[in-house]
Amino acid sequence: MTSTNGTGTHGAVIVDKAPEQDGPVVELRSAGKSYGNIRALHGVDLKVFPSQVTCVLGDNGAGKSTLIKIISGLHQHTEGEFLVDGEPVRFSTPREALDKGIATVYQDLAVVPLMPVWRNFFLGSEMTKGPWPIRRLDIEKMKKTADEELRNMGIVLDDLEQPIGTLSGGQRQCVAIARAVYFGARVLILDEPTAALGVKQSGVVLKYIAAARDRGLGVIFITHNPHHAYMVGDHFSVLRLGTMELNASRDEVSLEELTNHMAGGTELAALKHELAQVRGVDVEELPEEEDLTAPVATSEGKS
Ligand SMILES: Nc1ncnc2c1ncn2[C@@H]1O[C@H](COP(=O)(O)OP(=O)(O)OP(=O)(O)O)[C@@H](O)[C@H]1O
Ligand SMILES: [Mg+2]
Repeated sequence: MTSTNGTGTHGAVIVDKAPEQDGPVVELRSAGKSYGNIRALHGVDLKVFPSQVTCVLGDNGAGKSTLIKIISGLHQHTEGEFLVDGEPVRFSTPREALDKGIATVYQDLAVVPLMPVWRNFFLGSEMTKGPWPIRRLDIEKMKKTADEELRNMGIVLDDLEQPIGTLSGGQRQCVAIARAVYFGARVLILDEPTAALGVKQSGVVLKYIAAARDRGLGVIFITHNPHHAYMVGDHFSVLRLGTMELNASRDEVSLEELTNHMAGGTELAALKHELAQVRGVDVEELPEEEDLTAPVATSEGKS
């Protein structure tokens, strides 16, 4: 149903920045967050620029969701600074973040499965026509706009009347990305958009991440998967146990290095050593320790 329309692929830094947008849109300086006694995040520095994809990687519990919850206005930081357009901010609600142009697409998208695609596109911001009290939904205009906007992003669906629940997970993510672009987002946060998707659908979502970037948005792409990150990323931040372990731009880190940071090669080698003590596990059948520390093809998975 989704067809490709050839959006920009990621070339070497062809970044077309608006002149007034030289600084980061969103910045964290030594930011941290504690939930009571639990320190989920500490000393995190992050800069999000327009027309760039900033990838945040990290294992389960590393603090990725906590980080984006601060930026999207769900939680407040308890240490350091959070700036938008260079001004310190502290959002109390996601609405305040949205008013600053920070839109978040969550994994479990808030859609109404039985409603048509176009209706979900405008959910909560419906177009109306006519004067009060005979004001009514402008269905034709909403259908036309949704169709145009999806096409502009290179997303072609056969029928916008179909319930959004009949689209694949990847297609729904794409509709959510197009929606954020249409409603004027400057920063788009995606929390593990490819985690539950197969290879092909992940590719489609990555394409629209690149399309949003080409439209000038600053994209924050959360993922477990270094391969997905490296396909579209301009900047990579790896979190481990709540602190930033790596903060590197594309020219400073190779895919191998990124994969090694993520795969936790040394930890896997230690696990092999421990398994050797367990009866019934034939460690001879397991990969060599050198192979465990070498880059591996990871498949995305969430616990
Ligand atoms: N509301 C909360 N109250 C207490 N602790 C929390 C809360 N939310 C997160 N934590 C803790 O903060 C740490 C970071 O969690 P977070 O959800 O940010 O990790 P994550 O990187 O998003 O993990 P995952 O890959 O599993 O989504 C974890 O140790 C978690 O238990
Ligand atoms: Mg998370």
